Amino acid sequence: MDAMGAGPPGPLRGFFEQFGRPSGLLGHLAGYLMSRTDADDRWVVELLDVRRHDRVLEVGFGPGLAVALIAERATSGLVAGVDPSDVMVRQAARRNRAAIGQGRVELRPGTVSTLPYPDAHFTKACALHSLRFWPSAEDGLREIHRVLAPDGRVVLALRMRRAGAGRFDPSRYEFTDEEVANVVVTLGSVGFRDVATRRREICWQTITAILARR
Ligand SMILES: C[S@@+](CC[C@H](N)C(=O)[O-])C[C@H]1O[C@@H](n2cnc3c(N)ncnc32)[C@H](O)[C@@H]1O
Repeated sequence: MDAMGAGPPGPLRGFFEQFGRPSGLLGHLAGYLMSRTDADDRWVVELLDVRRHDRVLEVGFGPGLAVALIAERATSGLVAGVDPSDVMVRQAARRNRAAIGQGRVELRPGTVSTLPYPDAHFTKACALHSLRFWPSAEDGLREIHRVLAPDGRVVLALRMRRAGAGRFDPSRYEFTDEEVANVVVTLGSVGFRDVATRRREICWQTITAILARR
């Protein structure tokens, strides 16, 4: 599950990599591009079924759109997030300044591999378009399982590869059906249950959401 596989053509490679860990000026641009629509964020938040008292973790929050949507719903709970990109931590913190000030949102630099939270700390967790970039899907999903309370829900959003995508089509570096099936199996192997998938077309992209319970 390498982020880039054979990789896009040379000149585009650096820019493509910005979506995996945005940095510097190009990272700011990638963050801006990721924040042009919140349609996928809205779908995931709907699938998570966020309630007023939920404590929700987002892994790889990028520019922080889903964090804002979750904070609108979890008004008496908490939204926490980790992302290894300083540029994304700053963009998301700006977008969620008021809720951070109220102590309802906390965003930290960090990775899915070592989540800085105790066992069973959250009622729900999500990761949108981030799993592709984790060093190990299995280790990351095991960490999410650890920090979720019993019966806690997780939703993962994955962009799908278009059939016949050429080297200049960004979807070429996204998930195949076989890779989605591997993630489903991995969720089961680290202890999740009730694993189910949904699929939706959003802004000319096919998105798969994988839902599971701890
Ligand atoms: C394509 S962006 C998606 C951002 C946001 N979730 C969205 O949908 O707009 C992928 C994000 O995952 C983050 N990321 C990369 N590796 C990660 C890791 N090991 N653990 C957590 N987040 C990671 C990146 O920094 C980036 O912000």
